[in-house]
Amino acid sequence: MAASLRESSSSRDVDDEGVRGTCEDASLCKRFAVSIGYWRDPYIEHLVRQSKERKAPEINRGYFARVHGVSQLIKTFLQKTECHCQILNLGAGMDTTFWKLKDEGLLPSKYFEVDFPMIVARKLHTIKSKPLLFKPIIELHLEDTLQIDGYMLDSKRYAIIGADLRDLSELEEKLKKCNMNTQLPTLLITECVLVYMTPEQSANLIKWAANSFETAMFVNYEQVNMDDRFGQIMIENLRRRQCDLAGVETCKSLESQKDRLLLNGWETASAINMMELYSRLPRAEVNRIESLEFLDELELLEQLMQHYCLCWATRGGHELGMILCFCCFDLEGGKVFPPKK
Ligand SMILES: C[S@@+](CC[C@H](N)C(=O)[O-])C[C@H]1O[C@@H](n2cnc3c(N)ncnc32)[C@H](O)[C@@H]1O
Repeated sequence: MAASLRESSSSRDVDDEGVRGTCEDASLCKRFAVSIGYWRDPYIEHLVRQSKERKAPEINRGYFARVHGVSQLIKTFLQKTECHCQILNLGAGMDTTFWKLKDEGLLPSKYFEVDFPMIVARKLHTIKSKPLLFKPIIELHLEDTLQIDGYMLDSKRYAIIGADLRDLSELEEKLKKCNMNTQLPTLLITECVLVYMTPEQSANLIKWAANSFETAMFVNYEQVNMDDRFGQIMIENLRRRQCDLAGVETCKSLESQKDRLLLNGWETASAINMMELYSRLPRAEVNRIESLEFLDELELLEQLMQHYCLCWATRGGHELGMILCFCCFDLEGGKVFPPKK
C-alpha cells in the first residue's frame, strides 16, 4: 500500500486537483436537488455537506434528468441479468447507488466503485464513521474479516478502490484483488468522468473495458455539442477553476460519442441528448419536479440539456442483445424512456 500511495502522490496529483474538485461540484449539486425533493436519496446527506448557496432550477432539473437516465439504464441491466452481474462505477465520487439498490432489493452480485485515492480515502472515512452506510456492507459480508485500508475496502458485495483510471494495469490489478469476475455480465458506468481524460486515455479505458468482459454494457454520461459558443463558455468557465476538459474533442456530437465506443471494441452504441431524454421522461414525474421551483429561463435549460448526453454500448451475449433491443425500442417509445404525451 505504501508503494501505491507514493505513486498516487506524484506530480500528477497536483495537476489532477481541479478534476478531483469536480467530485465536490457534482455531489453538492446532487445533495441540493435531493434536499428540495427532486428525487429521494437518504444517503447523500451523510456523504456530502449541504451547499451554502442555492443551485439554479435549470441545474437541478439537469441533475434530475441525469440521475433518472443513468438509473433507468442500471435497472434495465439488473433486470435483464436478474442481478447476476457486477457493476463497476468508474469515477464514482460520492455516488450512493450501491445503498439505494440494496434498499430496492436490486443489488448486483458485486458493486465496485473506483476513484482517485484521495477521494476514496475521504469516502471510506465517512463510510466507516456512519453506521447507516457501513452496516449494510458488514451485514452483506457474512465473513469474519473485511479487507480494508485507507484507500480500499473489499467486502462480499461492495468494493471501493483508490486508483487512477488512466493507469489500466494498476486498475486491473486492484479490481482483480477485489475479486472482479470477468465471466459475469458487467455494467461499467462513467458519469461525467471521461471528459477529464485525453481522448487517447478514455479510448484506452473503453477498449480495456470491451476486452475484459465477455458480456458487458458501458454507460457514459457527459458533455456533447461542445463545438458551439455555449460549449466554449462551459470550457472557459471550468478552465478558470483550474479544470481542463482534456477530452472535449470527443464531445463534439452524439456521433463522435458513439464512434468512440464503436471504434474501441463495443458492438453497438446508442446516444441521446439530455433535452431529448428529458422530453421522454414520465409526464407525471416531470410535472412533479417542475412544480418544485419556478423556472423562467426555459431557453437556458434547453441549452444546458442540449450540451449533455447519455450514451450506452453493449458487447456480447444473448442477454445483452436483449438489453439493446429494449433500449432501442424504448427510445422509440417504450419502458426505459416512455414517449412524450
Ligand atoms: C464530475 S465528478 C462525477 C462523480 C460521479 N460520477 C457523479 O456523477 O456524481 C468526476 C469524478 O471522476 C473522478 N475521476 C476523474 N478522472 C479520474 C481518474 N483518472 N481516475 C480516477 N478517478 C477520476 C473524479 O475524482 C471525480 O470524482
